[in-house]
Amino acid sequence: MIDDDKQAAAVAAVAEVRDGMLVGLGTGSTAAFAIRALGERVAAGLDVRAVVTSEASGMLARQVGIAVLDFADIAQVDLTIDGADEIDARCFAVKGAGGAMLREKIVAASSARMVVIADGSKRVGRIGAAKLPVELLPFARAYVMRVLSDLGAAPVIRPNYRTDQDNLVADCRFPALEDPHALAAVLAAIPGVLGHGLFLDEVDAAYIASKGVVTRLER
Ligand code: A5P
Repeated sequence: MIDDDKQAAAVAAVAEVRDGMLVGLGTGSTAAFAIRALGERVAAGLDVRAVVTSEASGMLARQVGIAVLDFADIAQVDLTIDGADEIDARCFAVKGAGGAMLREKIVAASSARMVVIADGSKRVGRIGAAKLPVELLPFARAYVMRVLSDLGAAPVIRPNYRTDQDNLVADCRFPALEDPHALAAVLAAIPGVLGHGLFLDEVDAAYIASKGVVTRLER
C-alpha cells in the first residue's frame, strides 16, 4: 500500500514534466518510482534530459531510457522531483536517509522548481522527529563529531557507509528543532561539514499520497 502511495505521488509530480525540460532526479525508493514513471513517458515520446542526485539514480534513469547529463556542466535545472524523510505544511523537509542530501541540495538549489514526493507517513506537523544526516569530510571526523555533540545532536557515524563523494554521514538527533534556519546556518558553518538534510528554502511544492489520494502542498 505504501508503495502504491509512493507511486501515486510520483506519477502526479511527473505529470508536471513538459517537452524540452531538464529534469532533476532525486534519490530513494519514492524517487525511483518517479524515474520509472518518467521513463515510461520518455518511451511514449516525451523529449527531456535529466541530471541525477546519486549514482544509483543515474543507473536506474539510464536503464529506463532517460538521457542523463553530467550535472557539472549544468547551471540551471527546470524541475527537480525528489523524496523526503519528513515534510511539513511549510514545505520544510528533512532528507538524506539515503545519504544523497549533498547532491540533492545542490540540484534542488539549481532548480527553478523543486517538488517533493512522499507517502503519507512522511507528512508531519513540524519537521524534527526524523534523524538529521550531516555529511562530513573523513579528515574532520573527530572534530565535527565533538562540535555536533556539543550542540546536543547525539551524532552517530553511519556504520560501513560512504557517500557517493566518499564522505562520512553523522546521523543526528537534536532535542528540539525550534529554529531550523538557525540550526541550518550553524551546521553549514562548521569546518568539515559538507552538507546536511535540512531543506528549508528549496521545496516549492509537495505531492503526498495517502490511501491513493494525492494532496498537493504549495509553498
Ligand atoms: C536520499 O538521500 C533521501 O533524501 C531520500 O530522498 C529520502 O530519504 C526519501 O527516501 P525514500 O523515498 O526511500 O523514503
